[in-house]
Amino acid sequence: MSADQLPTTSREVRLASYPEGEVTLDHFELAESELAEPGEGQVVVRNDWMALGSVALDQMNPDTTLPIPVFQPGVALWGRTVGTVVRSNSPALAVGDLVEHFSGWRDYAVGAAHEFYKRDRSLLPSPEYFLSQGPTAWHGMVETAQVKEGDIVFVSGATNGVGALAGQIARLHGAAKVIGSTGSKEKIDFLVKEVGFDAAFDYHDGPVAEQLAALAPNGVDVVFDNVGGEQFEAAVQIASRGARFALCGALAGQHGNGGSPRLPLMSAITKDLTLRGFATMHTPEQLDGWNARFGTWLADGTIVFPHTVVEGGVPALPQAFLDLLDRRYSGTVLVRLGG
Ligand SMILES: NC(=O)c1ccc[n+]([C@@H]2O[C@H](COP(=O)([O-])OP(=O)(O)OC[C@H]3O[C@@H](n4cnc5c(N)ncnc54)[C@H](OP(=O)(O)O)[C@@H]3O)[C@@H](O)[C@H]2O)c1
Repeated sequence: MSADQLPTTSREVRLASYPEGEVTLDHFELAESELAEPGEGQVVVRNDWMALGSVALDQMNPDTTLPIPVFQPGVALWGRTVGTVVRSNSPALAVGDLVEHFSGWRDYAVGAAHEFYKRDRSLLPSPEYFLSQGPTAWHGMVETAQVKEGDIVFVSGATNGVGALAGQIARLHGAAKVIGSTGSKEKIDFLVKEVGFDAAFDYHDGPVAEQLAALAPNGVDVVFDNVGGEQFEAAVQIASRGARFALCGALAGQHGNGGSPRLPLMSAITKDLTLRGFATMHTPEQLDGWNARFGTWLADGTIVFPHTVVEGGVPALPQAFLDLLDRRYSGTVLVRLGG
């Protein structure tokens, strides 16, 4: 096949059925669909990288309360992806353009040009960097918690894609100490040695409130919570007067093994806490603003992009997702699809 010839089929991962208990490989189906030439106003995109997150677990639950479309049995899954335009029947995009879109879990995506968002390759070192969770980390740490100089900051679930960037953003805003929680000794080392957190603890090693109090004897001013459950409760207990909470995720509940947090109400009231949820919609403004800042910080070495690369293309996606749920990865989980 020559470079400008398209294959006739594209591999894709479909939902085989909704899981009723644990998710297994049987809930996914690898299939091929015909790859047509683009119609009027359409483009064909070769998917190069896709980001995986445990949010896909919520999308496999038809009763989820999250405001995002759930996956449908027999239909290809979707998720954040970057790729290269390889055919264009629209003046809006040219062959070779880098685009971000949501038709992941497949080799090629075909659709109307307005479903694909052009990205400026020159902003970041490599296309997969456009899949960072920086817009969420920034939204939570800067706009929601309003981190400022001298703050003592606690990030729960700090090793994942959102948390590892949120901690670094706090540091760049002058936080005096950045503390993270995570699930293993290796991940503590990763946070402190590679990502630059001041301290981290393993939530398996004893009561979270005790571990957090030992690292923050004067309390915490900002909490970026990805987990909920015991970690949220502990953070409320240890919080300083007037502390600001950015509520990002509820991993403990999302994974069905921690339940919803119980709010220690009197503590929250008497300490004058601000508890604020936020939902990042990834608007073009949020993405462009973040990518420009991210590029500058990467260039001057003040930030790192914590991520794990998984090889193997589309067929590797289901196992990579199960490994993510098994907590095997650190940082943003990026699967190389093509390119
Ligand atoms: N508010 C928003 O707009 C927004 C946007 C994007 C994502 N989110 C939320 O942000 C959170 C993080 O998302 P992400 O994509 O960066 O990462 P992710 O893929 O959801 O995180 C996976 C990691 O979370 C940790 N984890 C899993 N179960 C846990 C549990 N029961 N208790 C504590 N930690 C657990 C594990 O690390 P350890 O080994 O350290 O346990 C695992 O490696 C999620 O809750 C997601 O839904 C919110």
